[in-house]
Amino acid sequence: MQPITARSLVWYDSYHRTLPWRISPRERRLGAPIDPYRIWLSEIMLQQTTVEAVKSYFLAFTKRWPTVGDLGAASQDDVLRAWAGLGYYSRARNLKKCADIIVSEHGGRFPSDLPGLKSLPGIGDYTAAAIASIAFDVPAAVVDGNVERVVTRLYAIATPLPLAKTEIRMRMQALTPQERSGDFAQAMMDLGATICTPRRPACAICPLNDNCQALQSTDPELFPVKAPK
Ligand code: ADE
Repeated sequence: MQPITARSLVWYDSYHRTLPWRISPRERRLGAPIDPYRIWLSEIMLQQTTVEAVKSYFLAFTKRWPTVGDLGAASQDDVLRAWAGLGYYSRARNLKKCADIIVSEHGGRFPSDLPGLKSLPGIGDYTAAAIASIAFDVPAAVVDGNVERVVTRLYAIATPLPLAKTEIRMRMQALTPQERSGDFAQAMMDLGATICTPRRPACAICPLNDNCQALQSTDPELFPVKAPK
């Protein structure tokens, strides 16, 4: 395992955000199972909505519809009404469609591989990678905006976004471990959200400061480089 990967996981063990859809590393070691339904639901909600806004909706949905079978049995209208306020209502319509397919074609169980996940409504490259890694420990590279910022800084990637996306993905894939890939993905998200912030990143307390080429050579705030408009 690369030092960056190992350090991220050690940091995550102590400093991960506690979120309603997460199983902590400690709970995992004690044998708590991960429910793909909850990972899927959270990832759909998080596609275009902030973590803070998603929390209460996630809790309400999982209380009312604890399993994908319950969501499949719900009416489209009830799901849309419960979604009200989250915005981007095509997500809610796809959510219901996806739940119906999981029930009718997959026996109520989510596919555990990337192609199977990507074949479902509302699940694109990013969401498939997030579900596969977090719920099924598939070593898929999970790249969101937070991860883009962390990776462009670690490797001082001078290519502007969106051109840099290919290199970012390759770097992230190379860092992703065979085990605990979901914790690693979430560690990188949490680093981006809490330490490696767009402005005034907290490099002094970053577990990756020794590995950060932007910090060693220039200024992390210069990354990611944006294409001129
Ligand atoms: N944003 C998208 N997926 C997330 C996750 N699993 N944890 C935190 N933020 C996220």
